[in-house]
Amino acid sequence: MIVLLVIFAALLCPTVHSTDASVEWCYHKAECNFTTWPNIFPEYCNGSKQSPINIVTASVQGNPNLTSFNFTGFDDSSTFLSVLNSGESVVVNLDDDKMSVQGGGLPGLYKTKQFHLHWGNGSSSPGSEHTVDGKKYPMELHIVNVHSKYNGSVSAALAAKDSSALAVLGFFIEGTNEVNKTKSWDILTSFLTSIPNSGDTTTDIMNQITLNSLIEGVDRTKYYRYQGSLTTPSCNEAVVWTVFKEPVKVSHNFINRFSTTVFFKDPDASVLITNSFRGVQPLNGRVVTSQVEQTAASSAATSTLSVITVLLLSSLCWI
Ligand SMILES: *[C@@H]1O[C@H](CO)[C@@H](O)[C@H](O)[C@H]1NC(C)=O
Ligand SMILES: *[C@@H]1O[C@H](CO)[C@@H](O)[C@H](O)[C@H]1NC(C)=O
Ligand SMILES: *[C@@H]1O[C@H](CO)[C@@H](O)[C@H](O)[C@H]1NC(C)=O
Ligand SMILES: *[C@@H]1O[C@H](CO)[C@@H](O)[C@H](O)[C@H]1NC(C)=O
Ligand SMILES: *[C@@H]1O[C@H](CO)[C@@H](O)[C@H](O)[C@H]1NC(C)=O
Ligand SMILES: *[C@@H]1O[C@H](CO)[C@@H](O)[C@H](O)[C@H]1NC(C)=O
Ligand SMILES: *[C@@H]1O[C@H](CO)[C@@H](O)[C@H](O)[C@H]1NC(C)=O
Ligand SMILES: [Zn+2]
Repeated sequence: MIVLLVIFAALLCPTVHSTDASVEWCYHKAECNFTTWPNIFPEYCNGSKQSPINIVTASVQGNPNLTSFNFTGFDDSSTFLSVLNSGESVVVNLDDDKMSVQGGGLPGLYKTKQFHLHWGNGSSSPGSEHTVDGKKYPMELHIVNVHSKYNGSVSAALAAKDSSALAVLGFFIEGTNEVNKTKSWDILTSFLTSIPNSGDTTTDIMNQITLNSLIEGVDRTKYYRYQGSLTTPSCNEAVVWTVFKEPVKVSHNFINRFSTTVFFKDPDASVLITNSFRGVQPLNGRVVTSQVEQTAASSAATSTLSVITVLLLSSLCWI
């Protein structure tokens, strides 16, 4: 046993040292939290198209390109390969040979690699990355997809310096008083006790739940679109962002499991992962678009305007 431990430690040591040599980022300490990222990762984190952002609904512009999505494999529970404590988040690795996203105004087909979560400190504390008119939700789920031309390689996609290399789908999570909502969130969060420490992973999550069951109830034809970045270093500006308007409703106690069960990576392995989100970044002239809404009110307004215009034009004729 001791021999095994020594061999294990020897295998780990070079990794630990090389990690120590590179600059670390974090969420919870003054020397490496997100306000420091533009200094410690200046190449991209100090860019002008960073994520997340605050979406100002009054400034959102209509975009006829934002049609419905086609999701492949989202009803297939065999796509859930493993769930991992990454040291800063909880990541579910997905089978990108079976899962993909296209349509929705995306430039091509994107293979679905993983999803992960950002959270605050329980269901009554702010934890989302994106905000809408300043409103924060307790959690945000990110489904990460890589353009099919990169053969499923996120590192190849990032190396290409392509602004649409990745398509990330963001879902807000909102707490609800309804109990056991939903069974699939109960199952997902029940695996957290198996991965308390950074690097812990389990494949027991396979064949248990589907991605569709985790985002049920959300109208996936209503979303915001903008051009942005990864929300963790090195903050590459390679992401076509989709942020769905409607939140997923999840029981408070399931949300609370995240901030009470999994720990940050060394040397803070005794600190629970909380407030694992980046603050909002400046828009710098970027435009957020959404579906063009032809509501009864707006069409009424348009026809009233037309009538006034016609009247004005015809009165001009008389002058
Ligand atoms: C991050 O650290 C800075 C000091 O570097 C501190 O002023 C700030 O409040 C911290 N922010 C968060 C969100 O922890
Ligand atoms: C970030 O960019 C701004 C504006 O271009 C510049 O003033 C600042 O020095 C940069 N900061 C770092 C750490 O590179
Ligand atoms: C819609 O797509 C076309 C073709 O890709 C593009 O030229 C146009 O700018 C897009 N419109 C908006 C509002 O993004
Ligand atoms: C989405 O799927 C429908 C039905 O299979 C198909 O007709 C349509 O072309 C697809 N759209 C895209 C953008 O892949
Ligand atoms: C999170 O909430 C718990 C319980 O309310 C509290 O003890 C803890 O200090 C909070 N953590 C942070 C980082 O605020
Ligand atoms: C992806 O695979 C195809 C065919 O196997 C190959 O031609 C192409 O170079 C690969 N692209 C990348 C980015 O690896
Ligand atoms: C919620 O789930 C638990 C455990 O599966 C069960 O014991 C309880 O009866 C359920 N409550 C409701 C209201 O469905
Ligand atoms: Zn994320």
